[in-house]
Amino acid sequence: MDRKKFLKKVGLGLSLVAGTQFMTSCKEKEDQPNAEDCKLTGSDILGPYFVANSANIVNLNTLNFPGTPMMMMGKVYSGEGTNTPVVGAKIEIWHADDGGAYHPEGSGDVSDYEPAEITLRGFVLTEADGSYAFQSIRPGLYGSRARHLHFKVTVADHDDLVTQTYFEGDNRIPEDSFAKDAGDCRIVNYTDDGNGGIKGVMDFNLAK
Ligand SMILES: [Fe+2]
Repeated sequence: MDRKKFLKKVGLGLSLVAGTQFMTSCKEKEDQPNAEDCKLTGSDILGPYFVANSANIVNLNTLNFPGTPMMMMGKVYSGEGTNTPVVGAKIEIWHADDGGAYHPEGSGDVSDYEPAEITLRGFVLTEADGSYAFQSIRPGLYGSRARHLHFKVTVADHDDLVTQTYFEGDNRIPEDSFAKDAGDCRIVNYTDDGNGGIKGVMDFNLAK
């Protein structure tokens, strides 16, 4: 059993235990790691920094900002708990720089900004097997938020998904009112890429 399936199973077990067998305290419930069942990828807030019509690029770090190189990859699946790939899904990504600032720190449309103001955002499309990949740098921290990436996934015949992913081991997660609901399904385990960077895998299941 792979790690994700294992976590899914453990999480389901915890939910059943919490719901039916034991009267846990509020504190204990808050500490439970799995608020989602992962069959469909959960949504999260859009936040104030979504800019529409960003470019189709593989390396989001177009201005070569300093930071820890980060590779992300995964697949987009159709429907609840399936492994049915979705081809041509548009995955828009945006995140903060190493110092926690967005570029731009605003919303609207790319045409509202100068090209030099726009980076660490863009989109990729899924391949025939549902796969995607992109490069960037690890997002920095800002405010009281846990470290995160923003995603908007859109494709015909499926509900739009606006969500965020988090970083396993980030001790801000339990204190972040959005991150703490993510469950293990949106907390990504990043590993060393052997070149001073990190790589992580995030799959999405879209509702039909
Ligand atoms: Fe954010």
